Amino acid sequence: MLEFIKEISRAAGEIIKQGYYKDSVNTEHKGSVDLVTDIDLASEKYLISRIRERFPTDSILAEEKPDLTSSGRVWIIDPLDGTTNFAHRFPNFAVSIGLEIEGVLKYGVVYQPITDEMFWAELGKGAFLNSKQIQVSQTAKLSQSLIGTGFPYDRWEHGEAYGKDFIKVMRSCQGIRRAGAAAIDLCYLASGRLDGFFEQKLKPWDLAAGSLIIIEAGGKITGYKQEDWDIYQSKTVASNGLIHAELCQKL
Ligand code: IPD
Ligand code: CA
Ligand code: CA
Repeated sequence: MLEFIKEISRAAGEIIKQGYYKDSVNTEHKGSVDLVTDIDLASEKYLISRIRERFPTDSILAEEKPDLTSSGRVWIIDPLDGTTNFAHRFPNFAVSIGLEIEGVLKYGVVYQPITDEMFWAELGKGAFLNSKQIQVSQTAKLSQSLIGTGFPYDRWEHGEAYGKDFIKVMRSCQGIRRAGAAAIDLCYLASGRLDGFFEQKLKPWDLAAGSLIIIEAGGKITGYKQEDWDIYQSKTVASNGLIHAELCQKL
């Protein structure tokens, strides 16, 4: 199963990479700042066809065409996480695939085609970057931490509230990054490149693979008040565990 997920992630990444080096891509608006390109659609179409061919009765929750039936296996897919980056030729985007079996996330793969980095995890078996096992950082203080975040697509309407959280964290950590692809942010946390992460209104397809990779790398994920969390919640705080309480306290 893991090899199949890695294979289709890499192939979808190849579709994205070829699109990235083309002269132009067709872009449409789903909302004021929410875009979709023909490459998001091509990547998703490819992934769905590969999954349908091999597992015809499985459910697929994919960003551009959610089709959730009630089978015990759910594929949770972001065919291109970081579409705004992609559309602006900012080379930070990925394919993200999580597989939930009877309500439990069992596999997660995030593939970043430009850097050729594949982050992956299987429940109970650790987290990996390509063939190397990864772990969250050991940074113990928020003041020494590099924190990732992002802003939801309703930011034109609710920008002030998101700005307040941003300022509170920015004033207490070493640095803050908004790199534009939540699935990658989560994997950077899992591999120690970030120490913490927070964002509101992420979707299951942003979170499924990356959250399993974080847990398997020894990290922690909750809501903003340290409450229990799952990929269907609207507020996400993730960290190396050591700075978790301090980060939540700021939010
Ligand atoms: C978005 C990215 C971004 C995050 C947004 C997401 P998309 O996903 O992950 O970093 O801030 O909330 O929706 O639209 O590029 O797949
Ligand atoms: Ca996304
Ligand atoms: Ca997407």
